[in-house]
Amino acid sequence: MITGDFFDQVIDRVNTNSVKWDMREQFLGGADVLPLWVADMDFRSPPAVTAALIERAQHPIYGYAARPERMFKAIQHWNQTRHNWEIPQEQIVINPGVVFALNVAVRAFTQAGDGIVVQPPVYAPFYGAITENGRTIIENRLLEVDGHYQIDFADLEAKLAQAKMLVLCSPHNPVGRVWNTDELNRIADLCLQYNVIVVSDEIHCDLALFTEFTPLGRLRPDLADQLITLAAPSKTFNLPGLTTSYGVIANEEHRQRYEAEKGRSGYHVGTVFGDIGLAVAYESGAEWLDALHDYLRENYRLIEQTFADNPLVRLTPLEGTYLAWLDFRATGWSEEELTERFRTHAKVGPEKGGLYGEAGLGFWRVNFATPRSLLAEGLRRMQVALEEHRT
Ligand SMILES: Cc1ncc(COP(=O)(O)O)c(C=O)c1O
Repeated sequence: MITGDFFDQVIDRVNTNSVKWDMREQFLGGADVLPLWVADMDFRSPPAVTAALIERAQHPIYGYAARPERMFKAIQHWNQTRHNWEIPQEQIVINPGVVFALNVAVRAFTQAGDGIVVQPPVYAPFYGAITENGRTIIENRLLEVDGHYQIDFADLEAKLAQAKMLVLCSPHNPVGRVWNTDELNRIADLCLQYNVIVVSDEIHCDLALFTEFTPLGRLRPDLADQLITLAAPSKTFNLPGLTTSYGVIANEEHRQRYEAEKGRSGYHVGTVFGDIGLAVAYESGAEWLDALHDYLRENYRLIEQTFADNPLVRLTPLEGTYLAWLDFRATGWSEEELTERFRTHAKVGPEKGGLYGEAGLGFWRVNFATPRSLLAEGLRRMQVALEEHRT
């Protein structure tokens, strides 16, 4: 049985080619900065996954991999048991990463110059997928009401009327919202009305910690001809380095168009380890994931308690993801000043909110998927950085 002790264990990740730990000098300005930035977890993956990877690694030939039927079955099983969503096998497309797939979808379903709606503050590669492919960003900025984020539906309607695609972040990184069925229904209605393709990035779907996640594809079968869902075991089971994800495209013509565009990117074979990791995680990772949820909820509570009496910090109420979104605007400090105080003085590295667009300025994103002792130390250092406010 997996318990909290499993996640309490501090595992040294230095010298494992970890972006989060080994690139601190470049990105956080010092190798001694406690990293709370990149969205992977400092936890071991489910032991069954590790065992399966070791077993495969012991066969010393790593030639081109055929895509095992088992992968598709595992994706179907997971979605059926975890999200009550039945996905016919032929609708599944396999991708390396979700960001790759998003770029493919942008090219497959829009033309150069077309407008694509995003909802800032939002995961930065959404912007790149649009601009780097010669499309135009249309912003439907989220409304922040008393620290709670909502969709500005009047603005969304106006923006969809000019757009070909909506890139939905569901659940939303970085604001931690898990869109409810009312919100998803309104989005779907508008996209049907204005004939807009929806790319629903559901990579955080298994991390709804305080509410229930609804897959758009399950909720709205009538949107099937306009919907591309992207998901992965990577966030869920801490496997992003295996670069294996998948999409669901119900419309056959769209699926062919997507696969043709993917083919033009030269992606054509399986990944020995990624395919195994995905299958085993989805087949047997449920118990591990339930224990992870308990642990992450406690970690989030620790952040709440830490800043409860600090008027300089406002914690955005979180529904999902392991990324807390903290508002530091009350400090009056600029992003540069806070960077200096966090990273250089206090040696702690949350992520700058400005990376998620102008709407993120004044905010910092804290990745709390780390052993509680490290999180506590990181939060202590953030408090130290803020103490300078009084001096
Ligand atoms: C919303 C969202 N999409 C995609 C990704 C990354 O996906 P991948 O590593 O599969 O490209 C992330 C990672 O943080 C994310 O938050």
